[in-house]
Amino acid sequence: MIKAVLFDMDGVLVDSEDLSISIGIKYFESRGYKAERKNFLSHLGTGMSDFIYGTASEIGAEVSVEDADRFYQEAYAKELENTVIAMPGAETVLHNIKNMGIKMAICSSAQRWKVNANIKALGVDPGFFDLVIAEDMIKRNKSNPDIYLLAIASLGVDRNDAIVFEDSRGGVLAGVNAGIRTVALTTTMTRDEAEHSMADRVIRDIKELEGIKDAKALEDCLFPPRNRSLLYGASYIMASGEPIRPEIINKCIKEAIEVRKSAYAPYSKYKVGAALLSAGTGLIYRGSNIENSSYGATICAERNAVTTAVSAEGGELGIDLIAIASEDSPPAPPCALCLQVIAEFSRPETEIILVGEGNVELRYLLRDLLPKPFVFPTMRKQ
Ligand code: THU
Repeated sequence: MIKAVLFDMDGVLVDSEDLSISIGIKYFESRGYKAERKNFLSHLGTGMSDFIYGTASEIGAEVSVEDADRFYQEAYAKELENTVIAMPGAETVLHNIKNMGIKMAICSSAQRWKVNANIKALGVDPGFFDLVIAEDMIKRNKSNPDIYLLAIASLGVDRNDAIVFEDSRGGVLAGVNAGIRTVALTTTMTRDEAEHSMADRVIRDIKELEGIKDAKALEDCLFPPRNRSLLYGASYIMASGEPIRPEIINKCIKEAIEVRKSAYAPYSKYKVGAALLSAGTGLIYRGSNIENSSYGATICAERNAVTTAVSAEGGELGIDLIAIASEDSPPAPPCALCLQVIAEFSRPETEIILVGEGNVELRYLLRDLLPKPFVFPTMRKQ
């Protein structure tokens, strides 16, 4: 269930990028340089310093961020008096989400003065948001996950209960790297760029959510339940219907490689990471191997991911895919115990992707690795 919504500001709630660019052009002009719109485009959304220095290096200008910031602050406030920058529908959507009892945060890489000016332009009070993160609170820019990790920690919500709205590639990566479900808007990126941005969902703009009045409808609209009538037990589980998008597959692989780092393997030194994709919710769950002084008490990465997922999803799980990362060559398949546990929550076509030394990948279906799992008599097909 969604308990917190984390908004990037520019390009999501306000359309200030044209305004920023036009002020940027005037700024460089006032300092004797000619900048064009195209010089700014790849430096949007990562903070003032990148915006100015990135553009300056493209056009061969020598300027200081402090100087640009002073110019901007003055020009921005002046221009806002005559320019409407709130995205259509933004104010309604914000009020609707507030009425759902969902916490809201602004997570922007822009300077605080600009964020505050934008909040004002949205027609809400500064205290409307539960949290406002601006450039001054963050050391490492997006695509680092810091801004979103700080947001969920400050709001006291689990990453699975938060969603991020982003319009830029770096912003989407920041959300995804924080392990939070991330919605990409096609306000700044093209549809194609957004589809390939690793976002969990792509929507046109914030206005698309204007009619949504309750939290369940918001969840179902953004992350439609894929198949709630899954049957469990190895030979019973039904296909979720849709092919898995390549970006989601890559995300599972990346998460398996990442979580491998948190293995506890002081005895074997053989680290394994696993990340599975839930067919019911589209969420990804991770696990690493946890060894024990009493060797037999060791838990493999795959079973750790499966038990984590079942507990988190309220005792139900259908696995569409599981990625397993080792440093082995060839990449290590799950042990027979893990295959049996995976089978409990999978269908024969569940994908098993192994990644090993040098990121070599092997792709199987569960039925290739475990053609005949044990299935309890009452769970067998008639
Ligand atoms: N291991 C896994 O995590 N998954 C498997 O399927 C095979 C083995 C772990 C258990 C132990 O910590 C280490 O690898 C060496 O057996």
